[in-house]
Amino acid sequence: MSTHLADTCLAPSAPPESFARGLIEGLGQTPKEIPCKYFYDQEGSALFDAICALPEYYQTRTEVALLRRHAGEIATAIGPDAEIVEFGAGALRKVRILLDALDAPRGYTPIDISGAYLREVVRLLAADYPALAMHPLAADFTLPLQLPPLSGATHRAGFFPGSTIGNFRPNAAMAMLRRMREMLNGGGLLVGVDLVKDPQILHAAYNDAAGVTAAFNKNLLARANRELGAGFDLDAFAHYAPYNPQSQRVEMYLVSQKRQSVTVGGQCISFAAGEAVHTEDSHKYTIESFREMTARAGFLPRAVWTDADRLFAIHWLESR
Ligand code: TRP
Repeated sequence: MSTHLADTCLAPSAPPESFARGLIEGLGQTPKEIPCKYFYDQEGSALFDAICALPEYYQTRTEVALLRRHAGEIATAIGPDAEIVEFGAGALRKVRILLDALDAPRGYTPIDISGAYLREVVRLLAADYPALAMHPLAADFTLPLQLPPLSGATHRAGFFPGSTIGNFRPNAAMAMLRRMREMLNGGGLLVGVDLVKDPQILHAAYNDAAGVTAAFNKNLLARANRELGAGFDLDAFAHYAPYNPQSQRVEMYLVSQKRQSVTVGGQCISFAAGEAVHTEDSHKYTIESFREMTARAGFLPRAVWTDADRLFAIHWLESR
């Protein structure tokens, strides 16, 4: 049976030059930072997949359980003959729950910055859903982006799970929601969001005992060594990820353990002892604060599904 696999859109959109530029620019700033989108090369995507299976990382299993429990209601909200557009698609595991519940899903457009990883997982999904028109896009969804025209579907529905929205500052998150609303062209958006909660639970989720999150954070440096021939000593940097309960976000850093200089793409970058590189934030929202933000971005917040422990929420947003 033929799979409608349009892999022509799979040109890698984040070539090494852009990583080099982003890295050198970020490390040249005071305070230093590395944009979090560079986490996700093939290695980083695999490490993130391992994070999702950690006992401390409650987010993934809670969201998956919510999707399963409410798949029927979600399918009704999305409606028949839809094309699903997934932002930051990762391992393509969660969408299977939607696809299995939906009435005649027509197409699937997974967007992910990691082209090599996307190509691999799309092959697996396409084999299981041979009638689904696949339009994978290896792209940075934070940049303006043209979706392929609808084919066979009557409308689009966006899918943005994993609390990825929390990895953007509230202003940037709102701007992105607006752009997604335009891209979806009247279609709704299903968003998974991590909730504000006990700081200890949040702290554990980003500081796992097995050190997978630390390895994921340090993969930025490992990637620079692999792709740019940089000279980072991974043992000379520490993963530090405290939850700030007033700004309601986990702040991720790589902290230089000593005074050192590292060559990155021909540039010499100096680190003071104890100097931190900011690598990511993970903002947490209450159900109310998230609904308010999406309304300001022009959506009409409708149903919300949450677990009994109020760890995680899935929001269904309609377009005005
Ligand atoms: N969207 C995920 C989150 O904020 C991303 C993430 C989880 C992450 N663990 C991480 C990013 C560790 C960097 C480091 O929960």
